[in-house]
Amino acid sequence: QIMSAQSGIMTLYDAGDDTMTSVTSLAFPPDFTFGSATAAYQVEGAFDEDGRGPSIWDTFSKTPGKVWNADTGDVACDHYHRWEGDLDLMADLGLDAYRFSIAWPRIQPTGTGPVNQAGVDFYSRLVDGLLARGIRPVATLYHWDLPQPLEDAGGWPARATADAFAEYASIMGAALGDRVHTWTTLNEPWCSAYLGYGQGGHAPGRHEPAAALAAVHHLNLAHGRALQALRATSTGSPHYSATLNFHVLRGQGDGAAEAMRRIDALANRAFTGPMLRGEYPADLLDDTAEVTDWAFVRDGDLQTIAQPIDVLGVNYYSTATVRLWDGSAPMQHNDGHKTAAGGTAWPGSDRVVEFVEQPGPYTAMGWNIAPEGLEELLLSLRAQFPDQPLMITENGAAFDDQVAEDGSVPDPLRVDYLQRHFAAALRAMEQGVDLRGYFVWSLLDNFEWGYGYAKRFGIVRVDFDSLERTPKHSAEWYRRLISERTLPA
Ligand code: NOJ
Repeated sequence: QIMSAQSGIMTLYDAGDDTMTSVTSLAFPPDFTFGSATAAYQVEGAFDEDGRGPSIWDTFSKTPGKVWNADTGDVACDHYHRWEGDLDLMADLGLDAYRFSIAWPRIQPTGTGPVNQAGVDFYSRLVDGLLARGIRPVATLYHWDLPQPLEDAGGWPARATADAFAEYASIMGAALGDRVHTWTTLNEPWCSAYLGYGQGGHAPGRHEPAAALAAVHHLNLAHGRALQALRATSTGSPHYSATLNFHVLRGQGDGAAEAMRRIDALANRAFTGPMLRGEYPADLLDDTAEVTDWAFVRDGDLQTIAQPIDVLGVNYYSTATVRLWDGSAPMQHNDGHKTAAGGTAWPGSDRVVEFVEQPGPYTAMGWNIAPEGLEELLLSLRAQFPDQPLMITENGAAFDDQVAEDGSVPDPLRVDYLQRHFAAALRAMEQGVDLRGYFVWSLLDNFEWGYGYAKRFGIVRVDFDSLERTPKHSAEWYRRLISERTLPA
């Protein structure tokens, strides 16, 4: 609700938590990219069709006790068969761009070796379908669905996985590099490394702190090797990127600064250091010295990793509050990953830093809603990497949406969440942040990893029995934002 719009300053009042948000303009630049995002395993289904091999998420989701309600991605949103209708939905929303991921096991069913042409053809049709509708394809090579045979051979803690990834990147560069607008190498390598190999709440569900750090490095290396491969094979003029999920930290207590420094090193600088500065932060190496000697970092790796990127993808959902653990009470683990399988996501800091409960309001994930954290993050990235253009590759929220009697899906909390986060992005841009675009997570309700289908992030509802799609009110809100390119008040 607009409270006042004097002298160009617009004040938005939020009755939900009694806060005010001011922006001087509600208008986005004409070339700003409005998009929405999905990922292969979360939406495609068709898990064993047209030669697709198994991924670590097939294995993990079929292991009892790993995913809520024993849900799997076998069918998901059936996007593999319904992609044309989904593209029509995107066109109807007026999306400038669509961020999707390519399932590596559709391209190379065992992770190495010959190309499965049927898999390539699916993405080629998808890209053509997007272009025919005037929607720019933003393709992520890796959104967590590692071919199972590569995990059996060691997974991301093994260097050979980065070699295999470079080969896969060459295949995709040659196949789609004439048409893809933006290539993204990795999505949220933090999750792949720490949740996959440390905490174990994500596939492959291992609990090996040293392996998690080796995975960090081999994911970084895979990013650099993939950029080289994509650049060598793409015949168009695509943009290049990686997507990171930053931890926006608040600290408590006497050791607040130290607790924040430690988690910032593990979560954020472990990736931006090598990718954007060509070095691992010295404090990260110190903090983790008891876990690993980092001998897996070989001569030349950092040069390979630090290839320039055109845009840095930023995923943002909420903040985290940390403090040094004093041992007086059991350690708290409110780091947003409640499917916790008993391991730690924080090698080297797991007995030092605790994650405390955050003030609400919360989304259905239990994540606190903090739009100012997005503004702060964008400003902090600008301060750290002044020349690096940014793009919000994910932001959105899960809520327990209810279908109204007339079949519509009013989701005022999601509209409010998005409105306030888009306003935060505008505020950052007013302060000089070079933000190129914004992708809402997600286009469709989908398979939310460890939570299965219980958590709905879509601006389009999916009925998981009939697979019918119904745009929610947030989709209408987004359609209007895109057409007016001005934040609706
Ligand atoms: C991050 C991931 O990239 C995406 O796959 C996930 O569904 C959302 N965040 C929400 O948790």
